[in-house]
Amino acid sequence: MFVVFVGPPGVGKGTQAALLREHLQIGHLSTGEVLRQLIFDDTPLGKTAKAFIDIGKLVPDHVMIDLVDDRLENQEGCLLDGFPRTITQAKALDVILAKGEKEVSIVIRLTADRAELIRRLSMRACEGRSDDSDLETIRRRLEIFDSRTAPLIEFYRRQGKLAEVDGIGTPPEVFARVLAAMSSEDGCC
Ligand code: AP5
Ligand code: MG
Repeated sequence: MFVVFVGPPGVGKGTQAALLREHLQIGHLSTGEVLRQLIFDDTPLGKTAKAFIDIGKLVPDHVMIDLVDDRLENQEGCLLDGFPRTITQAKALDVILAKGEKEVSIVIRLTADRAELIRRLSMRACEGRSDDSDLETIRRRLEIFDSRTAPLIEFYRRQGKLAEVDGIGTPPEVFARVLAAMSSEDGCC
């Protein structure tokens, strides 16, 4: 199965995807993590991505689509955290999965109020992520979510694939809601 996590920066996509990966024992692709590793390794793609990530902007669609196409080749199932992030990426994901006669199974939309998102990301600033380092960059990421990524919610709702999960609470509490949402959608868990 292919599970997509959608939600604003700081809502807990990475945290919940890690818990679900353990539970389902399938792969987890976090495009943010992949890009941070490419930056750390000082690769050409990492250099390109860094210029966007440091200021809280999205890396161009064609770069991300090529990267994901490569990583999903021959995968039987995967948790996607941070991709797709635009309608163009969502349409490309459908094409990538269709090559292996697969499709997105379910989209988990995590929600939290803006004050909580800013609180979580500001608290994480000491961990050294360049895009958590100042409030202006955090705000820009949240604005870009609203303008570029939020339209995905309607896109997947129309396909009947959207499951809404309240992201406020402890990580285990939220995870219990993720599992409940998944079992009510398709009985997979
Ligand atoms: P990415 O790494 O995906 O970052 P993001 O979407 O900004 O989200 P975060 O990773 O900050 O938050 P999260 O929702 O994963 O929450 P987390 O579990 O970490 O992308 C980074 C950048 O890469 C983008 O800005 C863009 O430039 C680029 N990029 C990536 N993918 C791209 C794409 N497809 N297209 C274009 N560009 C792309 O939790 C956050 C914090 O809260 C943590 O400290 C955590 O411990 C804490 N926390 C989690 N859950 C809870 C809880 N329930 N209660 C209290 N605290 C909690
Ligand atoms: Mg993350």
